[in-house]
Amino acid sequence: MGSQTTLKILIDSQNIEDVVCRLADEINRDYNGKPLTVIGVLCGSFIFLADLVRKLKMPLDVDFVGLSSYGDGRETTEHIHMTKCPGCELAGREVLIVEDITDTGLTSAFLTEHLKRYKPASVKLCVLLDKPARRRVSLHIDYLGLTVPDEFLVGYGLDYAGKYRNLTDICILEDEAEC
Ligand code: IMP
Ligand code: MG
Repeated sequence: MGSQTTLKILIDSQNIEDVVCRLADEINRDYNGKPLTVIGVLCGSFIFLADLVRKLKMPLDVDFVGLSSYGDGRETTEHIHMTKCPGCELAGREVLIVEDITDTGLTSAFLTEHLKRYKPASVKLCVLLDKPARRRVSLHIDYLGLTVPDEFLVGYGLDYAGKYRNLTDICILEDEAEC
């Protein structure tokens, strides 16, 4: 007896495109031409960010940050570690964080607070997918694509062990028992 991995489509590429268009419309309307600095969270946001920024109409810069979280067996909270800091000037800028998915919320909460240290004019959060079932901190998402069930998702930038990022649909990764 073993297990086999299967992929079940949750959000197909046409649906993703519709969601990205809707988010871009909301962002274009709110910033109304003001210059923007878009900060993507590596690596999961890279495809979403690439699609989103091509629909934004204001002048903008793009930068990326790297974050990793690791559990500390002695405490109940995870610690987030920055593996790549922003390389561009953020002081006085309108900053929009672009994240693939929020789960516990710890990563996005950490990054939002961290970027405020650079004294931007504002920091807002745009998240493609929200999995609120396992939230551990309160988090305000300014632009939310879709709320999703508590399943492990891959595709459209999301990975499992570095794989599946290139899938055009967002899929549930399921382990199926095999006799
Ligand atoms: P959080 O700090 O628990 O909100 O986790 C956010 C990060 O965990 C995301 O940016 C992803 O990198 C990763 N993550 C959470 N859920 C999934 C998933 O279903 N598939 C792939 N990565 C995930
Ligand atoms: Mg991520």
